[in-house]
Amino acid sequence: MLIPPPLSLYVHLPWCVRKCPYCDFNSHEGRGPLPFEAYVDALIADLDHDLPLVWGRTVQTVFFGGGTPSLFPAEAVDRFLQAASARLRFAPGLEITLETNPGTAEHGRFEHYLAAGVNRLSFGVQSFDDGCLRRLGRIHDSREADYAVKLAQDAGFDNFNLDLMYALPEQTLAMAEYDVERALALQPTHISHYQLTLEPNTLFAARPPAGIPEHDEAWDMQERCQAMLAEAGYAQYEISAYARPERQCAHNLNYWRFGDYLGIGAGAHGKLTLGSEQAILRRWKAKHPAEYLAKAGGAGAIGGDERISAERRPFDFMLNALRLNEGFSLAGFEATTGLPRAAIAAELATAADRGWLSNDGERVVPSELGRRFANDVMELFLPD
Ligand SMILES: C[S@@+](CC[C@H](N)C(=O)[O-])C[C@H]1O[C@@H](n2cnc3c(N)ncnc32)[C@H](O)[C@@H]1O
Ligand code: SF4
Repeated sequence: MLIPPPLSLYVHLPWCVRKCPYCDFNSHEGRGPLPFEAYVDALIADLDHDLPLVWGRTVQTVFFGGGTPSLFPAEAVDRFLQAASARLRFAPGLEITLETNPGTAEHGRFEHYLAAGVNRLSFGVQSFDDGCLRRLGRIHDSREADYAVKLAQDAGFDNFNLDLMYALPEQTLAMAEYDVERALALQPTHISHYQLTLEPNTLFAARPPAGIPEHDEAWDMQERCQAMLAEAGYAQYEISAYARPERQCAHNLNYWRFGDYLGIGAGAHGKLTLGSEQAILRRWKAKHPAEYLAKAGGAGAIGGDERISAERRPFDFMLNALRLNEGFSLAGFEATTGLPRAAIAAELATAADRGWLSNDGERVVPSELGRRFANDVMELFLPD
């Protein structure tokens, strides 16, 4: 029996000052003045259109992702949040995160985001080495990253994440360690530490930059940085996520626990459990901002709809749950997939034999080996 899990709201804001050469997110270089007001109107129309899918449910987290949400004036974010909270039940004290590019931090804006209800920021810092930042095509240097964080702290933000990437072109182990040291000095509550990947259809994939660290070097960086973070009190709870106690990202945790999310905005993806139909719906929106702006609120803005088949659900579940150090409970698997635990018993036994996870009959927890070879473990659950 499928039981609707906690519900999150994801809001995609698709513009950036400049497209980074490694990035495959749905982000578009904004040319000329951006249509913030029209986009907020479109988001509200999009939300109205999808409301029947989430009738009566409580939203546990909101996440403004991008693109570069910090390009949006606080007034636009405020107008959207007011409209959303008038239409949906917001859990008391819910986490509301806004992604921020340090190159867009303007004085005075952070306190307005805070006043609008945003209570968590996520800064795309990537590195504190100006050479690395240049090679990544970033619009900011390390001094601006420090400054943006300081502005946010002065404005009253006490809960923020810093995104770092490692295995960067021409980066050494010492440089990766330096990035973590500088990040720690800013005392964030959360650090995301991503290995740079060459995503298809990016400039980096077409023309890979020189000096990308080899697999073993990247692994050393990961291990060393993980140890530094642990020593400083940031526990790893997901492959790339580290947090102070009680400061995990509730929004991302809901994804990884196979929770539900309504996705609104250009190219946004959603996953919703429809209790009455005993189905799981995936829905995504028109990707290009111009098309989205023109069609939001109508069926034309739906890029696609798909019901996740029973055969596919174990893989989709594992794609998320096996990223978490805590693993998952078999009862949780049954509730969020609507399948009996027997559906994955053989695959779990194979994975346990290979030392990839433990299973005490209640909880399944990936081992260190299982986390290192997460993709191989997940593949076991692919439908035939
Ligand atoms: C949507 S972006 C965050 C906000 C903002 N757009 C920025 O870049 O400052 C999410 C994060 O994903 C990470 N990321 C993006 N592309 C990546 C790639 N190819 N490999 C690894 N991490 C990547 C970066 O750390 C980035 O900050
Ligand atoms: S600023 Fe962020 S979303 Fe925009 S292109 Fe760069 S990495 Fe992608």
